[in-house]
Amino acid sequence: MSGKAKLNIDGTEYELPIIKGSEGETGIDITTLRASTKAITLDNGFMNTGSCQSAITFLNGEKGILRYRGYPIEQLADNSNFLEVSYLLNYGELPSSDQLSKFTNSVKEKAVLPDGVKNIIDQFPKDAHPMGVMAGAMAALSGFYPESLGECSDEMKDDLFCQLLGQAKVIASHFFRRSVGKKTVDPDSSVDYSSDFLQMMFSGDGFKVDEDVARALDVLLILHADHEQNCSASTVRVVGSSQANVFASISAGVSALWGPLHGGANQAVLEMLEAIQNDGGDHKRYLEKAKDKNDPFRLMGFGHRVYKNFDPRATIIKKACDTVLTKLGVKDPLLDIAKGLEEEALKDPYFVDRKLYPNVDFYSGIIYRALGIPTNMFTVMFVLGRLPGWLAQWREMTETKGIKIARPRQIYTGHNERNYVDVKDR
Ligand SMILES: CC(C)(COP(=O)(O)OP(=O)(O)OC[C@H]1O[C@@H](n2cnc3c(N)ncnc32)[C@H](O)[C@@H]1OP(=O)(O)O)[C@@H](O)C(=O)NCCC(=O)NCCS
Repeated sequence: MSGKAKLNIDGTEYELPIIKGSEGETGIDITTLRASTKAITLDNGFMNTGSCQSAITFLNGEKGILRYRGYPIEQLADNSNFLEVSYLLNYGELPSSDQLSKFTNSVKEKAVLPDGVKNIIDQFPKDAHPMGVMAGAMAALSGFYPESLGECSDEMKDDLFCQLLGQAKVIASHFFRRSVGKKTVDPDSSVDYSSDFLQMMFSGDGFKVDEDVARALDVLLILHADHEQNCSASTVRVVGSSQANVFASISAGVSALWGPLHGGANQAVLEMLEAIQNDGGDHKRYLEKAKDKNDPFRLMGFGHRVYKNFDPRATIIKKACDTVLTKLGVKDPLLDIAKGLEEEALKDPYFVDRKLYPNVDFYSGIIYRALGIPTNMFTVMFVLGRLPGWLAQWREMTETKGIKIARPRQIYTGHNERNYVDVKDR
C-alpha cells in the first residue's frame, strides 16, 4: 500500500488506500467503499477497474509494451518457443533444460483424448463452428477426470496444465480432419508443438512440415499466450472464482474468446478482406464506411481497448506473415488489400485521432490462411495460443489468499415496487 485517495460524497470525505504495482501503476482500493459509503462504482466495460493483482503479464498500452513474467515479448518471440513460454507463464521463471524437457515430455505424453470425448466431438455436424466444438469438448473433459473437479494439489495443477495444452491440439485437429472426411493423426512425440500440430492437421498427400513455417506458427502462439485481464482471461477467473473446476473455467474462456470483438476478430478480418475483394477490392470505400457513424461497419483488426499507440504483437506478426508467404510461395491478394487498408488508415485523422492501429488479429488470419487452416478455425488457433495464459491466470487466482467469488453490483434502473395484476385484468 502507498498513500491515500480522498473521495467526497455529498460533503462527507472518505479516505481510500492507494495500491502501487511493480511498474508504478496506481490503483485506488475500493474494497471497503460500499460498507463505508453505501456507494458503488459504475464502470461500463471495466475500462478503469482492476479485478485482481497479478504477477503474470505486464502491458502498457500507451507505450506498446508487453512482457510475460518481466520478459519482453520481442525477446521471447525471437529466442523462445511456445512450450518454454507456457512453462514461464505457469511457473514464473524460465526453465532449466531438464525442467523444460520434463515439461515438454509431459505435454506430449498427455496429448491423448479419451475416446468418449472423441465420440462427443464426432456427434457435432461437420460444419459446426469449431469454437463450439472446442468449448464443448473442454467442458466434456470434466466427465473423464472426476478427481480434478474438487480442490487440486500443486501436482494436479501441473498435470492439468500439460494435459490441457496437449489435448487442445488433439481436439482441434480431430474435428478438422473429421470435417474434411479424414482419419485422425496421432500426436508425434518426437517433434515440437507447432510441427506436431501441423502434422496432425495436414498429414497425408505428401505433406511435409516446413521448419520455417512451423517456427512462424510457434511465434504466433507465443504472441497469443497471455494478455493479462482481457475478456476471456477475466471470464476464466470469474468462473473459477465460484470454485468451478478448471475444465468449466477454460470452456467459459473459449466461449468468451469466440466473439468478433475479441478472438473472433481474426475470422472477422479475413471475412472482411474477402468481402472487400469480392466487392471489387476498393479498400478506400470500406475505410469510409468504417468512419461513417451511421454505418455499423468497423475495420476489423483495428483498435484495441488497451493499446493506444501500437500493438507490439502486430509488428512481429507482420514480419512473420511476410516470412510465411515468401516461404510458401503464396501471393495472396488479400495481403495487398490488408496493406492498403493499413497504409490509408494510418494517415487518416479518424484513425490517428482515436489511436486506432492494427491489432494482433489483423495479419494473423493471412498467415493461417496461407497454412491452409480454414477461416472458421482461426479463433481455435487463438485458443491454442491463449491456453497457457488462461491456465496460469486460473492457477494464480486459485492460489491467491482470500479470493472472493466475482459478483459485481449494479445500479438498478427498473420499476419501483408495483402490485401484481391478474392476467385477466391486463
Ligand atoms: C477492440 C475494440 C473492441 C476496442 O473497443 P473500445 O476500447 O471499447 O473502443 P470504442 O469501441 O469505444 O472505440 C473508440 C472510438 O473508435 C472507434 N473505433 C474503434 N474501433 C474501430 C474500428 N475497428 N473501426 C472503426 N472505428 C473504430 C469507435 O467508433 C469510437 O469512435 P467515437 O469515439 O467516435 O465514438 C474496438 O476497437 C473494435 O471493435 N475493433 C474491431 C474488432 C477487433 O479487431 N477486435 C480485436 C481486438 S484484439
